[in-house]
Amino acid sequence: MTLPQSRALLTAVPGPRSLELAARRAQAVSTGVSSTFGVYVARAGGGIVEDVDGNRFVDLGSGIAVTSVGASAPGVVAAVGTQAADFTHTCFMISPYEEYVAVCEALARLTPGDHEKRSVLVNSGAEAVENAVKVARRATGRDAVLVLDHAYHGRTNLTLAMTAKAMPYKTGFGPFAGEVYRVPASYPLRDPDGMTGEQAAARAIATAERQVGADRVAALVVEPVLGEGGFVVPAPGFLPGLAEWAAAHGIVLVADEVQTGFCRTGAMFACEHEGVVPDLVTTAKGIAGGLPLAGVTGRAELMDAVHAGGLGGTFGGNPVACAAALAAIEAFERDDLAGAARAIEARVRPRLEALGAPAVGEVRGRGAMLAVELVRPGSLDPDPAAAREVVRRCAEQGVLVLTCGSWGNVVRLLPPLVIGDELLDDALGVLENALLAV
Ligand SMILES: Cc1ncc(COP(=O)(O)O)c(C=O)c1O
Repeated sequence: MTLPQSRALLTAVPGPRSLELAARRAQAVSTGVSSTFGVYVARAGGGIVEDVDGNRFVDLGSGIAVTSVGASAPGVVAAVGTQAADFTHTCFMISPYEEYVAVCEALARLTPGDHEKRSVLVNSGAEAVENAVKVARRATGRDAVLVLDHAYHGRTNLTLAMTAKAMPYKTGFGPFAGEVYRVPASYPLRDPDGMTGEQAAARAIATAERQVGADRVAALVVEPVLGEGGFVVPAPGFLPGLAEWAAAHGIVLVADEVQTGFCRTGAMFACEHEGVVPDLVTTAKGIAGGLPLAGVTGRAELMDAVHAGGLGGTFGGNPVACAAALAAIEAFERDDLAGAARAIEARVRPRLEALGAPAVGEVRGRGAMLAVELVRPGSLDPDPAAAREVVRRCAEQGVLVLTCGSWGNVVRLLPPLVIGDELLDDALGVLENALLAV
């Protein structure tokens, strides 16, 4: 890590050089693309992002769960350099190469279940989800896709149909792909008191059977922990209940592990916490230490049900991204980053739970995917303004945290799994003050 692992504020936030860039941006970049923070990045390393004015921020967002191995992790940087010097692109569909095969071998080894597996590599999480649905439809000959309330699966037309939240993702962009049916998720804070995971699964299944019928369903796509929907951990028994029903009806269970995968929740994949073995797993984000790469991995008989040429894309499984993924995967395993995620939870959760801030409705999450849902004190009414204010106060003090949630009222923590204790404690202190102040 070449950057000092400490906060430093040299100017106002944003500083003068960031403000200059913001002015240029306004003339060049669509207003449809927004940024949480107004500071422009010059460098990043480990758990620190340094802006163009020399301010150093503690990064508790990891570029939305991407730089789990740390920003610019040395192994990733070296692998990228070596691969870029060898060749940057040939297109795997034209002239294949070992790095793609090696990433698929690693995915087969690391994803849940010891059945025979195959993979396809693509460029983004949304593209992975699209391809999982293609595979499920081709393999089952059925059309319907089941998704959960509060789900987020991406911004392409099909994945927008699968995503729950209208603003900002869907509004004005329809019509969306058809044959997508939404069923209730397990959301312990907001479900009826005492509802078990099994009961929440039965509720979802009853909705699916009423709306579409199990025999028409190709795929049931679930995030094992709802990501953009608010870091909601389902009640125990919910995922196994859905998995059992899917298996009984020949429905392909797709675990969307784009955000939860690669050690983020304290296991290599979040499904492992409940012993669920999905038929297909989608991965992206943390897979390649910051390079764009995504994959669909699953049962060989499903993945190989697709005709030759049915899957692919010009850039899918780019060799530089694959080399980065192999280096990142080496770090996940060698450095026990799943253990690191559990250690982060053990450090952060008790502090947030003990805080007693009136706006905190719930502290939840798994591993280093932790969140605080903010509500109007004494109620469950979501308080998105409080969440925005926490983010603003933290940024002003040199700490980057993100929001999520169907109502935008959840502050989420996604630190790099390599973050040092001292840096984490320092950032937590800032977050605690912000939570107490709203
Ligand atoms: C669970 C999940 N699926 C899919 C996506 C879409 O990934 P991408 O932004 O790489 O298309 C995301 C992104 O946040 C996600 O969290």
